[in-house]
Amino acid sequence: MTYRVFSRATVLGTAALLMLGHLPQAHADNAEDLITRGRYIADASDCSACHTVKGGRPFAGGMAFKLPTGSIYSSNITPDPAHGIGGWSEAEFSRAVREGTRQNGASLYPAMPFPSYARMSDSDIHALYAYFMKGVQPVAEAPPASDIPWPLSMRWPMSLWRAAFAPSVPSAQKDVTRPFPDPAIARGAYLVEGPGHCGACHSPRGVALQEKALSGSGGPLFLSGGAPIDGFVPTSLRQDQRTGLASWSEDDIVAFLSTGRNRKGEAFGGMTDAISHGTQHLSQEDLHAMARYLLSLDPGHPTATAWHYDPAAAAALQRGDTTAQGAKLYVDHCAACHRTDGRGYAPAFPPLAGNPVVMSDKPDSLVHVVQSGAALPGMAKAPSAFVMPAYGRMLSTQQIADVVTFIRGAWGNNASPVDAATVAGLEKSAPRPVLQDKPAPLN
Ligand code: HEC
Ligand code: HEC
Ligand code: HEC
Repeated sequence: MTYRVFSRATVLGTAALLMLGHLPQAHADNAEDLITRGRYIADASDCSACHTVKGGRPFAGGMAFKLPTGSIYSSNITPDPAHGIGGWSEAEFSRAVREGTRQNGASLYPAMPFPSYARMSDSDIHALYAYFMKGVQPVAEAPPASDIPWPLSMRWPMSLWRAAFAPSVPSAQKDVTRPFPDPAIARGAYLVEGPGHCGACHSPRGVALQEKALSGSGGPLFLSGGAPIDGFVPTSLRQDQRTGLASWSEDDIVAFLSTGRNRKGEAFGGMTDAISHGTQHLSQEDLHAMARYLLSLDPGHPTATAWHYDPAAAAALQRGDTTAQGAKLYVDHCAACHRTDGRGYAPAFPPLAGNPVVMSDKPDSLVHVVQSGAALPGMAKAPSAFVMPAYGRMLSTQQIADVVTFIRGAWGNNASPVDAATVAGLEKSAPRPVLQDKPAPLN
């Protein structure tokens, strides 16, 4: 990556500008290089996670997004002139990606993360455009039409939303080029806040579903944890003890983003898509930059105490004492993989002791992982796939509450118990993701 070329002594503000691509691109006039760079930016931005459906042609769109009023579908963004964006100018493309407007001026729904993409530099947009025009195969297929009934289907209210909540490109660019402690952190901020749109899932949202903060300069709510998506909770990516990344090293974060697994945990839910379509394709330099930036974010809950391993639960299980609520269920169903000491066999079976997913204030992920199982597909740099069985048919609602309460209380986790009513409520609120026997091959 280009930022490596510059010495650390470079004046920081200038360095940030340089990293965003305002430097004279030695090979920008080479069309192949430009397309390759555009493909990398498409990966860093996860475009395929939403614009390519499983089994479908790349970027032909058609992925459903359910809104309270009905469904919308992601667009065909291949260079087909009739069904895709083949007839779009670079300026029109830029307006859609960074400002959320269609070629005809209508507003896009913010399911398309343009409030984050507004930070993308002109030179990255230029490369991205070259890739979509020349590096992607045209597909002459229209995605399904939205089934939102008139008058709710009118798009003008979305322009009010955009005016209220989406930053203008100049203000977003100004924010992302603010001073940072060093060039790697500046690059990481650009990738996380801009193309990576990590906040779209990991930041809390307000009443109009706007992200409460769009960048690190927006205060401690940024990346402080999001609302559950399909029953899975995006955890805090700030330096929060227990519920955030305070105990993850730079290398832990890099390993997770490049392979979906590390000694601390394993990806599931929407994070698996973010890794398989996005971060696994990034260079180690860029992943380190992102990790260093995340490590620079203050905790949202600075008073939380650090997690320390407590051996009491393991000692009890090892001497056959299963009187604690849920302990017997844990020994019978879970300990073979996650071990009585809760430390698992990473990276195959993640530890449950000290795992932020387990200690989260919201037990949604735990309940859904136990009910429906989880499958981590192989990634380019870590080909083995791992599967956690589904217990929804084997365990009752009360038993799921008991075993989840056990893992939240054991090994120093000290998180609040979960009752059967909460488990039943979660079952209703989120559809059960169906566990496939074999994880689908990705990319
Ligand atoms: C989180 C999901 C998501 C991601 C990631 C995403 N998009 Fe989209 N995109 C959508 C949806 C949904 C729509 C349609 C929105 C609507 O109908 O208002 C859309 C619409 C668009 C449009 C407008 C096309 C039209 O029909 O007018 C363009 C262009 C586009 N996306 C390009 C991109 C590019 C380029 C990337 C990566 C840099 C990207 N998108 C990433 C979900 C996404
Ligand atoms: C589509 C939603 C989505 C997007 C986009 C997303 N994440 Fe996640 N992320 C999740 C969910 C859900 C979890 C919880 C499940 C898990 O731990 O894998 C998670 C977990 C994580 C974890 C592990 C936390 C832990 O304590 O186990 C890290 C690290 C992470 N995300 C980083 C990122 C980064 C960096 C980005 C942007 C490049 C990002 N995520 C984008 C949904 C998302
Ligand atoms: C056959 C081995 C196996 C058994 C038995 C098993 N798990 Fe898992 N578990 C896994 C694997 C593999 C993952 C990672 C799955 C993924 O990331 O998609 C996992 C993930 C989890 C997670 C999410 C943690 C994280 O960081 O990914 C929790 C919580 C969990 N298991 C709890 C349990 C409970 C409770 C039981 C018993 C009811 C249980 N597991 C039984 C293999 C197992």
